[in-house]
Amino acid sequence: MTTTLPKRKTLLLNIVFVVVVLGLLLFLWNAPPETTPRMPPDENHQRFFAMDRKEAESFCETCHQPDGISPLSEDHPPTFRCLFCHKLPE
Ligand code: HEC
Ligand code: HEC
Repeated sequence: MTTTLPKRKTLLLNIVFVVVVLGLLLFLWNAPPETTPRMPPDENHQRFFAMDRKEAESFCETCHQPDGISPLSEDHPPTFRCLFCHKLPE
């Protein structure tokens, strides 16, 4: 058995490949903008921007806990690494 495909089949595969790639690009292009709020650049958060992520995360819950000054909503996703989801402001 020969391993080279007949010419027509190769052409077909190339077309399929291009269509799939275009489809993916279109899909990514249309993806909704991310909705996770970024850390606001205010006096509460400014000091975390220079900090190591893990170190910074150990402070979040002093304010963002149920009886803190800015409790998380009830449907907030699991919170174990805040800064994986909440990016710094642009
Ligand atoms: C000193 C208290 C304090 C600490 C510590 C703190 N925050 Fe906040 N945070 C606030 C307050 C108050 C608000 C709401 C008012 C505002 O937007 O600044 C807020 C708002 C936010 C928001 C925006 C929410 C929205 O709806 O836009 C995010 C995201 C956030 N904090 C993440 C964090 C993360 C992650 C950390 C740890 C690195 C952290 N915060 C540490 C007080 C704090
Ligand atoms: C798995 C991703 C993820 C992690 C981890 C995470 N968050 Fe969030 N957070 C979100 C999303 C998504 C929203 C928007 C929720 C909404 O709009 O209902 C949000 C919203 C918030 C808000 C706005 C108030 C609210 O509850 O809607 C604050 C403040 C906040 N997060 C702080 C934190 C802190 C502090 C931590 C770590 C203890 C953390 N987040 C960890 C994804 C995450």
